[in-house]
This record gives sequence, C-alpha cells and structure tokens, in this order.
Amino acid sequence: MTQSMRSSVGSSLLIVFSMLCCFVTLRAADTNFHNAPESARETKNPYEGQKAAALAGKTLYARNCLSCHGKAGQGVGNVPSLVDGKIESVTSGEVFWFVSKGDKKDGMPSWAFLPAQQRWQVVTFVKSLGLSQTSQDANTPAPPDMSTAKLKAPAPRPPFTDFRYENPGTKRKITVRDLPQPYATRSAENSPELVARPSNIWPAAPAGFKVELYAADFDEPRLLRTAPNGDIFLAESGAGRIRVFRGMTGDGKPEEASIFASGLKRPYGLAFYPPGPDPQWLYVGNTDEVVRIPYHSGDLKASGLPQHIASLPAGGGHWTRSVEFSADGKKMFVAVGSASNDDDTDNNSAEKDRADILSCDPSACELHVYAYGIRNAGGGLGINPQTGELWCSVNERDALGDNLVPDYITHVQEGGFYGWPWWYIGAHQDPRQKGKHPELKDKVIVPDVLLQPHNASLEFTFYGGKQFPADYKGDMFASQHGSWNKTVRAGYEVIRVPLHQSGHASGEYEDFLTGFVLPDGNVWGRPVGVTVAPDGSLLVSDDGSNSIWRVSYKGK
Ligand code: HEC
Repeated sequence: MTQSMRSSVGSSLLIVFSMLCCFVTLRAADTNFHNAPESARETKNPYEGQKAAALAGKTLYARNCLSCHGKAGQGVGNVPSLVDGKIESVTSGEVFWFVSKGDKKDGMPSWAFLPAQQRWQVVTFVKSLGLSQTSQDANTPAPPDMSTAKLKAPAPRPPFTDFRYENPGTKRKITVRDLPQPYATRSAENSPELVARPSNIWPAAPAGFKVELYAADFDEPRLLRTAPNGDIFLAESGAGRIRVFRGMTGDGKPEEASIFASGLKRPYGLAFYPPGPDPQWLYVGNTDEVVRIPYHSGDLKASGLPQHIASLPAGGGHWTRSVEFSADGKKMFVAVGSASNDDDTDNNSAEKDRADILSCDPSACELHVYAYGIRNAGGGLGINPQTGELWCSVNERDALGDNLVPDYITHVQEGGFYGWPWWYIGAHQDPRQKGKHPELKDKVIVPDVLLQPHNASLEFTFYGGKQFPADYKGDMFASQHGSWNKTVRAGYEVIRVPLHQSGHASGEYEDFLTGFVLPDGNVWGRPVGVTVAPDGSLLVSDDGSNSIWRVSYKGK
C-alpha cells in the first residue's frame, strides 16, 4: 500500500494522540480559542482517536460544513480555513464548544441542535483534517501503531491489571493501601479505535455459561431495564429512542420488538414508577431533564407524551443521567456527573449541582443534594433489594497516572461526601487542589468496592434470577465500559461483585464477561447496560458493536 492510499484519517489520529501533550503545553500561554471557558478546554472527546467516529464525522461534515468551509477544509472569503494549523493547536473540547455555540454575528451557525455524539464525531474529523494534509504533504512514514506497541508493556503489578490479564472467574481486590502516589506514571492518551468484531471472536464467560447475540444494529445502545412484567427496555441514546423487547426464543432472541418512545434528548436513565408490580410511569433521564412517560404493564408503545419533571444541569463532560426510586417510592434519585475532570467547584459555576446524586419527592419534584463529591454516578444507580440501600457506580478522575484514581461501586450514605474534586478515596488530597477544604479531609467516605482506575464503570444490576448457580443470588453485575487514560487498557468487561448472600460487599470483585479487546489491543465492544431477563439470563448492551449480548447458564 502506498502512502497516498493509506487511510489519512487513521494515521492522522495517531499523530493527534502522540502530540496532544505538546499542544496543551504550547497553548498554556495563549488566550482561549474564541474565548472558550477553561472547562471547555479540558473536556475530553469521548470518541478521541476512533476511526469509526472520524468516518461518521466525515459524512456529517459533508452534509453540514462543506458548503462553507470547503471539501478539504480550506475555507474561502470570510470563512476560515480549518487546516491552517489553528484547529490542531487547540483541544477537541474547545472546538466542540465553538461548534456547539457558533458565532451568529460572524456567520458561523450554532450546531447545538445536532446530538452531542454527532458534534464530537464532526470534531474528530475536523481535528484530523489538517494533520492528514501535513503528513501526506511531507510524505512522512506512518507513525507506529501505538495500540500494539503498548502490548510490550510489562505485566501489571497486582491488584492492578489490564485487558491482557482479564479472565472470567479471576478474583480481584484493591484496597486503599494499594494506591500509588499521584503521577507515579504518566497520564496516558489511549482511547480505543473501534474495529469490527472478527467472526471468530466472541465474548467469554466462566465455564458453564453460554453467550449469545440477543439483538443488534442499534444506534448507541446504553442502559437496560427490565419492566415488572418482564419486558426489556433499552435507552438507545444516540437515536433519542427507547426500545422494548418481549419474550425469548429458543436461540436467545426477543420474540417481539418495538419502539416505545422517540424524540428524546440523549436518554439514558430509565426507572418505573411507582415501584412494584403496577407502574404508571416510565421516568427517563434525558441529558438535561427528567421526564416521565405514561406506562402500563404490557405497553409496547407510549400512550402519551413525555412530561417534564425536573431540569438538570447539562453540557461539558458526562452526559448520562441515571434515575432510580427508593423501594417505598417516596424518593427519586438522579445522578449528574461533573462537567470537568477535576475543576474546583468553588470557582466554576458550571459545576453547580453536578458531581452529585440529587433527590426529590417524585410527586412534587424539587431537587436537592442527597450525596456529593461523586464525580460521575450518571452511569449507574440502583436499589439493593436485600438492604433497600441506594448503590452507585462511579467514574473517578483522570490524569493522575495509570493506577489512580480507582473507579468504584458503593452503597450511598445520605449526606455523604465522596471526595471530588478536593479529595479521593478517603483522606487523599488531589494534588491539583492542594490546601483546599481541609475541613472535609476526615469526611471523605471510602467506597465499598474499589475498581481498576479508569475502567469507566457504568450500569449494574443485582442478580435476582433463578437460572445462575445459587451462590450468584443477590450478587451484582456491573459493566466496565473501558479506559482511555491508562497505558494498557483495562475494563471492557462485565464484572461480578459478590455480596455473599448478605447484601454487603467485601471489596472483592471478579471478571465475568471479557473478550471485547482483541489480543492486539484493538477494541470491538464496550459494555454499558446490564439487566436480568425473566428467564434469569443476563443481558448486556454494548455500544462498541451496537448490540445486546445474552449470557445464560447451562451447567458444567
Ligand atoms: C454558513 C457557513 C458556515 C457553515 C455551514 C459552517 N461554518 Fe464554521 N465558520 C463559518 C464562519 C464564517 C466562521 C468564522 C467565525 C468567526 O470568526 O467567529 C466559522 C468558524 C468555524 C470554526 C473556527 C475556525 C477558527 O479558526 O477560528 C470552526 C472550528 C468551524 N467553523 C467549524 C465548522 C463545522 C464543524 C461546521 C459544520 C458542522 C461548520 N463550521 C459549518 C461559517 C460556516
């Protein structure tokens, strides 16, 4: 293959990776791009370096941007060039911010009406435009494939691990004593570039379990919830839709499928209300509000329009909003993740009512803070059926090194403080917040289960089915979407958190469903949602291959 035939998008994205650190430093003295706020600059592109995202962005560019900025991004008249080096020198977060906001006065439209995913895709493409020109013009050799180079990295030191050592059934436990110092290793830029699943590759579960493809061809399948009548609901966030599935065929597929509701703004959280066998509503966490949709058992289509329940802060990073009700139905919980990685909330109004779990009376909702310092529990909230406690799954902060800060799963104490942004995992001060809030030092709760740092822990469920072996009863399953801020990736699996038939965690967890990363380090699948089907099998949504997997127990 000659250089000119080489995928310019792919190779240029690798340059983006390897040079990002330098751009950030170079830019430190400049004024911000179009006066973008600091938080915009820090916002990470969730699709950074993903070839599929850049390709999707190319189509979006052709549809929306090409008419003004030109086919190659060269610009014309008062429409600026996107390939003169300026766009490369600023962060994806800044470009995203400007593209969302636009500048009406100077003739650049606002693209805020496009879903955030599409805006990030177009940013991924635009960021790659100028680089592909320089690398082609200079006819430089392609940069090394970082994903495979990384595989020569030494084996991780337990209890930390990476995808090479994830195996169904392997038990792990991370304790506070295991935490390294901040910056013990460099902060990595290692976002996955999604590839298609090779036909001989399949997710792996422990012996005795079977994995089947339940359904496929979704647009960003995210949270899964089982309705009281056994129907399976899916938030198809990219499409702004909620789907519903019913029944199970002999080969593990739904017997019926339907679109329950559409036209929603990045829906993620789903919760039936009131709790119990006869719900009247499906509450939905859209990125900027909680709405409820009329629902009665058996409905495959919503019988009415969404009603507004509460507004939520939105924008910046962390768009998912998980929703749950207390077992008595008297409290609604909604988790809103931080806008930034680790901004001091005292100085950033964009962080108001974020990095919190909020709560209200669902019949007359006025949100207040229920628990705080929780960087992002937007991926998962749930009530432990055995204890009635609220539990959450949390994405902790980045850029302190490979093995800091652990993500976690924990029960939530009302009024509890979990550290972000000033402290982490007990009385450890974030070095970027030195000297701040000493009065909170001894208030920081150490979570129940520390997970691999950067795993991106998302939805979890408590296993209440009858199909799996008896010692699984009441245990948690949790999806780990997978890291970007770790030299060799970790996560990209579903884990089991044993609750030992007591409803309480001991800090242990084990790998349950693995195999979403290929041996060469490329990623084809990313678990997000987990729920238990009426027959006791486990369903797992995957927004890497845009499908849902079914795990059932067949016995030894
Ligand atoms: C109607 C014409 C038009 C369209 C369509 C358009 N732009 Fe622009 N764009 C402009 C103009 C004019 C500016 C300069 C605005 C300014 O200086 O504030 C601009 C500025 C920009 C900038 C900042 C460039 C710099 O160097 O400061 C970016 C990035 C950008 N556009 C991206 C996009 C993307 C991505 C799309 C498609 C989603 C798009 N534009 C669609 C006219 C357009």
